Amino acid sequence: ENLAQCPFRGTRVGGAIGTSPQIDDWWPNRLQVELLHQEHPASNPLSDVNYKEAFNKIDLQELKKEIKALLVDSKDWWPADYNNYGPQMIRMAWHSAGTYRIADGRGGAGQAMQRFAPLNSWWDNGNIDKSRRLIWPIKQKYGASLSWADLIVLTGNCALEIMNFPTFGFGGGRRDAWEPDRSTYWGPEFWNGKPFKESNVGEYYDGHPEEMVTQTLRWKGEPSDPNRDLENPLAATHQALIYVNPEGPGGNGEPLDSAKAIRESFKRMAMNDEETVALIAGGHAFGKSHGMVSAEEIGPAPEAAPLEAMGMGWQNPKGTGFGKYTMTNGIEGSWTPDPTNWDNNYLINLFKFEWKKTESPAGAIQWTPVDPNAPKTPDAHEEGKMNDLMMMTSDIALKQDPAYREVCEKFLNDFDYFTDAFAKAWYKLTHRDMGPKDRYLGPEVPEEDLIWQDPVPKREGELIGEADIAGLKQSILDTDLSVSALVSAAWSSAAIYRHSDKRGGANGARIALEPQNNWDLNRPEELNKVLHSLKTIKEDFNGKQSGNKKVSLADLVVLGGCVAIEKAAKDAGFNVNVPFTPGRTDATQEQTDVESFDWLKPVSDGFKNYHNDKVGYHIPPERIFLDRAQLLTLSAPEWTVLTGGLRVLDQNFDHSKHGVFTNRPGTLTNDFFKVLLSMDYEWVPQDDKKMLFNIKDRETGNTRFTATRCDLIFGSNAQLRNIAEVYGAEDGKERFVKDFVKAWDKVMMLDRYDVKDE
Ligand code: HEM
Repeated sequence: ENLAQCPFRGTRVGGAIGTSPQIDDWWPNRLQVELLHQEHPASNPLSDVNYKEAFNKIDLQELKKEIKALLVDSKDWWPADYNNYGPQMIRMAWHSAGTYRIADGRGGAGQAMQRFAPLNSWWDNGNIDKSRRLIWPIKQKYGASLSWADLIVLTGNCALEIMNFPTFGFGGGRRDAWEPDRSTYWGPEFWNGKPFKESNVGEYYDGHPEEMVTQTLRWKGEPSDPNRDLENPLAATHQALIYVNPEGPGGNGEPLDSAKAIRESFKRMAMNDEETVALIAGGHAFGKSHGMVSAEEIGPAPEAAPLEAMGMGWQNPKGTGFGKYTMTNGIEGSWTPDPTNWDNNYLINLFKFEWKKTESPAGAIQWTPVDPNAPKTPDAHEEGKMNDLMMMTSDIALKQDPAYREVCEKFLNDFDYFTDAFAKAWYKLTHRDMGPKDRYLGPEVPEEDLIWQDPVPKREGELIGEADIAGLKQSILDTDLSVSALVSAAWSSAAIYRHSDKRGGANGARIALEPQNNWDLNRPEELNKVLHSLKTIKEDFNGKQSGNKKVSLADLVVLGGCVAIEKAAKDAGFNVNVPFTPGRTDATQEQTDVESFDWLKPVSDGFKNYHNDKVGYHIPPERIFLDRAQLLTLSAPEWTVLTGGLRVLDQNFDHSKHGVFTNRPGTLTNDFFKVLLSMDYEWVPQDDKKMLFNIKDRETGNTRFTATRCDLIFGSNAQLRNIAEVYGAEDGKERFVKDFVKAWDKVMMLDRYDVKDE
């Protein structure tokens, strides 16, 4: 008898929705345009909630009291070490935030992605599923008013506070994601030398990280190689770890190699040496590591666990499976004699004693004091039992690396300084991806502006009105600035925004400051001419006001774009009004961290046909272009219409003619799409690299235009081509102009959290 017989239709059931193979299995290299449409509002059951209003109604002090009470209320299903859940909650918050990497701004605590795969099942997030379950009663009580993302960070702060650490502040305002992120690149991963897909998914995460990383491509060079290079945009040195392997690179137990990995990894997260030491030494003042049982015995991670595990993973078969049997990472023990109190004992003991390598019950490399008289630490569960202190290879690294050592010594000699450094670094760690301070909610947001927040001044003075705007537009028209130059300045200023960490954007007019004003892709010479004229207009206007009304350079840059597009549309036969929302202010160079802003410079930017081959991305430009479109939160139609428009508006960074499929550059026509879709042409690669193409007239054989991959993708990819057809159609001309203007305005407003409620 055939149990797989479908009772409804009498046919054999071979698969259901989503069963492999799907198109990605057949064509793994296709451009996944659908990644632009993740986080569809339909996936969010709270899309009707105004989170700002809801959060602001919470009594934060009361909420914190409740969290703090819960942290010392041990539950039998997961008994707290030392009767205090604080340390494990600090680790939960740290791992939530610690995925952030500055190269593309992705990761971070902002959406509580820790709740979803792959992060929820990363080896390094072991048993954090328990931490989230423990605080569910708080989430349940506050429901829509308190996102998981805010709760996770706030719980971390409460944990620090009940252990006598003075936190620097807390800002709410994180909006939860409602589905796994399918697009972030977390690096190549191998399991015993085999690519992930060939291994069994259920078994995959059960093993020990060392085995997982025997063969990663993300590093160039051996662990001890001083020029060892980590692939961008990654910050974690290994797949499924938050940062580095605690046992040293590849588990080699070498503190100096570990120091190199830590430095590279924390740098990618925008932390300098002092912040790095403050975070590690500060964090490891609390709690313990868990390694009582061999990794091989532990059950599958949440995503591969059986249904009845109800979303929890890493089932531990030994003893009760928790409490004194807990197995998380594999290393066993605590760093300090008083792991639920903020003190300087981590550094004191690290430096006072010599440490020797030893092994945990689970077989992991760890370190213990050579001196048998070194202080002991109480057992987390057994009353009266005392254990040896423990350090990880990554902790010993702080002592052996000369630069880290210098920081440690400073902290050792000045505990207040260390306390302040950890408080500030923790605040940065947990708020780094929140974007402008306008997004921070609640009574515990510190007044002080911090340089990593990319501060912009508060607006002073009266806002410019309709009549002023009309006058300013005329002043811009009266200059000799070209449509192309004005559009380029506005686009360059706004489209640097990235939604991942909400940095960049037109507000602040940083386009006029280092480093942005000198980036080659911003046409620095032409840009400076535009800025010069706009500054003159600004001074004229502001000088003429009798009251305190002012226009900012940031607003004028955007207004210049509006003026230019209205003119370009008019030349194409359409009268349009490009929306303009004033209120931006101008930042100063002192408010701008040049090094940190340089990370925002795209390595490749399809909107400007800019591609830097020297950068070590081994992926085609159109894929990085898709990445940029996603960082700008564009839909596929918005991406398409903007590209088609920017091409005819002559926006290639070097004024090259690639993709400028028109005889009338500077006019907002749908010519790009008409040529792209026309069968009068054939498309011929210029050479084997297939980066540039000739567009030849089939009849004459003459090359009419040239193009890049970022142009032709809109005709080659099926999804994009269908959208291009809409704009290339006879009835598409007006739609093209209208949609272009709408998408343009969206980009100009992306960073306006001063007027948006998101
Ligand atoms: C625990 C590694 C940085 C806070 C642990 C554990 C490991 C680890 C392996 C034990 C997990 C377990 O078995 O339960 C590392 C490495 C770091 C690092 C390799 C970077 C080089 C940090 C930072 C913080 C932090 C920056 C916070 C600011 C903690 C806390 C615990 C912990 C509080 C104790 C958790 C508990 O008691 O359950 N860390 N860590 N760590 N880590 Fe870190």
